[in-house]
Amino acid sequence: MKIGKVNLIYYSPTGTSKRTLEGVAKGLGVKGVEHVDLTPLEAASKSYAIPADSLAVIAVPVYSGRVPPVAAQRLRKVKGNGTPAVLIAVYGNRAFEDALVELRDITTEQGFKTIAAAAFIGEHSFSTEATPIAPGRPDEEDLEKAVKFGEQVKAKLDGVTKPVEVTVPGNRPYRERNPSGPRFPDTTVESCTLCGACAGVCPTKSITVSDKVETVKETCTACSACVKACPTGARVWTNEGIRKAAAWLHKDYSKRREPEFFL
Ligand SMILES: Cc1cc2nc3c(=O)[nH]c(=O)nc-3n(C[C@H](O)[C@H](O)[C@H](O)COP(=O)(O)O)c2cc1C
Repeated sequence: MKIGKVNLIYYSPTGTSKRTLEGVAKGLGVKGVEHVDLTPLEAASKSYAIPADSLAVIAVPVYSGRVPPVAAQRLRKVKGNGTPAVLIAVYGNRAFEDALVELRDITTEQGFKTIAAAAFIGEHSFSTEATPIAPGRPDEEDLEKAVKFGEQVKAKLDGVTKPVEVTVPGNRPYRERNPSGPRFPDTTVESCTLCGACAGVCPTKSITVSDKVETVKETCTACSACVKACPTGARVWTNEGIRKAAAWLHKDYSKRREPEFFL
């Protein structure tokens, strides 16, 4: 199968899934790459059709061992037509559990065929200087592996008319999502300049900036995009549950995990 166009489809609040995906695209060695960024809220009101002669490369982060609910919702607006798909789950060095199998189920229902999949590691959304969890990942080594994975996908497609579908690890029923009450980052008034960077990156538009910063707690997904985007470090997690989780993840999940390919 000759790869015509490649569609990079992703939900990536803190950018690690997107960066990984771009590495894979480089390995595919195709010029015509089109981005379908499902991260901004505006993407939720659009529909997308990916033709049969394209290759879809789809990446999402792992939340509670699953596909983030917002990503699942937005992926249901993307239709394939028997379109071959490469699925990528990016996780924060703990575990990806049922995320790939759930991503496979969602995209199969949407008309895609899984011809390859991979799990990569990204800096954990809750990583801080005091409690680093996979800081700086994907790093150079990860991105080299992403390129290699892309090359392997290309080699699999070369010379076959109908690439074999693959299965991925994971369980059904999927893992229960971690129960949590409302949790959202806080803004340190003293260092906040009201620049609006936090509001600009929020994938659910849960932040408004006037003479102060306010967050709609019901729609905040805890993705931490605002924390990572704040230029003065004013946006922080003070939430007890998140701080405890970060300390636990730092203590128990600091040992480097490596990407896994399913081809
Ligand atoms: C609410 C939430 C739940 C998460 N759950 C997991 C998890 O179960 N396992 C894991 O290893 N990382 C988990 N992470 C970390 C993300 O998967 C990781 O940081 C990923 O690289 C973020 O992708 P992005 O940069 O594309 O947003 C979680 C992050 C958030 C915000």
